Amino acid sequence: MPLTDALREIVGERHCLTDPTMRASYETDWTRRFSGPALAVVRPGSIEEVAAILRACADAGVGVVPQGGNTGLVGGSVPRGGEVVLSTLRLNEIEGLDPDAGEVTVGAGATLAAVQAAARPSGWEVGIDLGARDSATIGGMVATNAGGVNVLRHGPMRQRLLGFEAVRADGSVLRRLPGMPKDNTGYDLGGLLAGSEGTLAIITQIRLRLVTALGHRAVAVIGLDDAGAVVAAAGRLRRALGTIQALELFTDEGMELVMRHAAVAAPFASRRPAYLLVEVGSDAGDPGEGLADALMTLDVDPEAVAMATDVAGRHRLWQLRERHTEAVNAEGVPHKLDVSVPIGRYAELVERAPSAVADVDGGARTISYGHVGDGNLHVSILGSSPDDHRVDDAVLELVLSLGGSVSAEHGIGVAKVDWLLRDRGPATVAAMRAIKDAWDPAGILNPGVLFARDS
Ligand code: FAD
Ligand code: MLT
Ligand code: ZN
Repeated sequence: MPLTDALREIVGERHCLTDPTMRASYETDWTRRFSGPALAVVRPGSIEEVAAILRACADAGVGVVPQGGNTGLVGGSVPRGGEVVLSTLRLNEIEGLDPDAGEVTVGAGATLAAVQAAARPSGWEVGIDLGARDSATIGGMVATNAGGVNVLRHGPMRQRLLGFEAVRADGSVLRRLPGMPKDNTGYDLGGLLAGSEGTLAIITQIRLRLVTALGHRAVAVIGLDDAGAVVAAAGRLRRALGTIQALELFTDEGMELVMRHAAVAAPFASRRPAYLLVEVGSDAGDPGEGLADALMTLDVDPEAVAMATDVAGRHRLWQLRERHTEAVNAEGVPHKLDVSVPIGRYAELVERAPSAVADVDGGARTISYGHVGDGNLHVSILGSSPDDHRVDDAVLELVLSLGGSVSAEHGIGVAKVDWLLRDRGPATVAAMRAIKDAWDPAGILNPGVLFARDS
């Protein structure tokens, strides 16, 4: 029987999409830089269906591309050509929220926003937040070990993972649910799945460890002379304030784009080359006073400071940072380089990235922003052809020369396969490859992601 007929039998006619118009939104990534035709898109509604799909694809020797919200930024969630896309969006149940333990079990296809909304009434939060919250799924976030704006407080997704259920390429099910905060029973397979980018198994359920919700928050945006001043101010605030939730950097060029494309107003009249956004939280009372005191100790122009403690005001300030991704996308198809360096080299990276790019492509334009508290910078490049890798190589070369990592939070996907080897070296990549071969000997799961197809 042809594979598509077998898939139709498993998920039903409605959830096996072979028509090109129906497949289209699953075939191109969020940036529009990566796309490819799928043999079919399947939308299973149960773990049994996931297992049956994997067995059918393995029998047919056809690759499977797991896809959640398709907000990934390294091309790992869309087909390269001829694979089956397995969408997890129907696996979206949220169940078993334990208000005393602060834990919840969610289907891989549940969006971050849905889980945030489910946790809040019980006084809990997910502890991870990112701009794609309405579409990004918990399964995709585990698969990419997503970071976001609260990593400096609660760590990346791997640290939120208590238990999991996943299906391997041969259809066998791995299950450790609910999962315990203390669990030393051999290898940490859930931890291994975090960051595996769909190359080892399809994650179907996750037990999350939540964090207590904060009653009060305050946000400030401070205008500064350059990235070095942002790094210095971030460090001083970190020492002065106990409950920093986020420390984010953006530049005036990026803010200009956000103001243009997202209709957000400037935080203050006096524009500056670089900005630091800081958020603090408190259970006890308004953290605004402590933040204002800490800001006074910084050598900043009072005309270049905006602060808010109310929901609307905080949201307005956050928009200036959070909407960079869509503002950059509105300008063109970006090359997105998500990197991290030791904090002592961060300002140097911000300053040197544009000239490294200009040296190889004079027509390209660089917009940088990121999670300065984690040493994580997002270098977005506009105006360079999607297939031209020279700008990517120039930035990643610079990052390695500064002692950094070529991927901080978005992953390797198909975008940085060669650079995984450059960054981690042949022995480490061979060890990773051995894990891949043991879990998925036929190479069915997300071929071309992390490792080159012919390696
Ligand atoms: P997808 O894009 O669908 O997939 C991502 C990868 O995971 C692919 O390799 C896919 O094959 C694999 N995968 C998906 N689901 C599963 C599953 N159930 N089992 C196995 N493999 C699976 N990322 C950050 O880290 N921090 C940010 O601050 C951040 N902000 C963003 C803001 C915007 C506006 C956008 C568009 C993206 C942002 N991202 C950020 C990137 C993206 O949201 C994250 O990578 C997110 O984790 C992807 O989730 P997803 O459900 O969309 O996964
Ligand atoms: C962010 O922090 O805004 C994201 O990770 C997405 C991006 O790089 O644009
Ligand atoms: Zn980010």
